[in-house]
Amino acid sequence: MKEINITSSFLVYSGIEELSEEIQSLMAQAVEIRKKAYAPYSQFKVGAALLLDNGKIVLGSNQENAAYPSGLCAERVAIFHAGSIYPEAKILKIAITAASDTNQTTAPIPPCGSCRQSIAEYEIKQDTPIEIYFMGEIGEVYKSASLKNLLPFMFDKKFL
Ligand code: THU
Repeated sequence: MKEINITSSFLVYSGIEELSEEIQSLMAQAVEIRKKAYAPYSQFKVGAALLLDNGKIVLGSNQENAAYPSGLCAERVAIFHAGSIYPEAKILKIAITAASDTNQTTAPIPPCGSCRQSIAEYEIKQDTPIEIYFMGEIGEVYKSASLKNLLPFMFDKKFL
């Protein structure tokens, strides 16, 4: 028997002011698209902004449905759109922000498990790490230098 230890490392910024101008701008775009989320059931709005290696920025917000599982998270709306219109481009950075209509979200909101698995697919496909920045409505911003920090023991194509 042996034990395996896997460590994850994150940078914690005390607020958006501490981010580089590039990431502040990306996060500002995530905030704007977040406001356009269609979230009548949860009142929990999420925005995601992707920076691609071709210089394009692709945005997404969560889209809910009366048949709940038919809705989709902001991160997957954005990455699937990017994959559709720029199939050759690499995703360099993702900024994510979430805000509830009912209470102020101060904790950094990480991508859900399904979004992590979806982002993993693109990180492996492009063979380049994707930087992920996530925050609530206000407060700290967490940075993960790669999706791998968020999804240890990920399932990927090498198992197929
Ligand atoms: N949501 C996202 O958009 N991204 C996540 O990573 C977590 C959850 C959305 C899905 C749903 O519309 C709402 O937030 C509440 O779960």
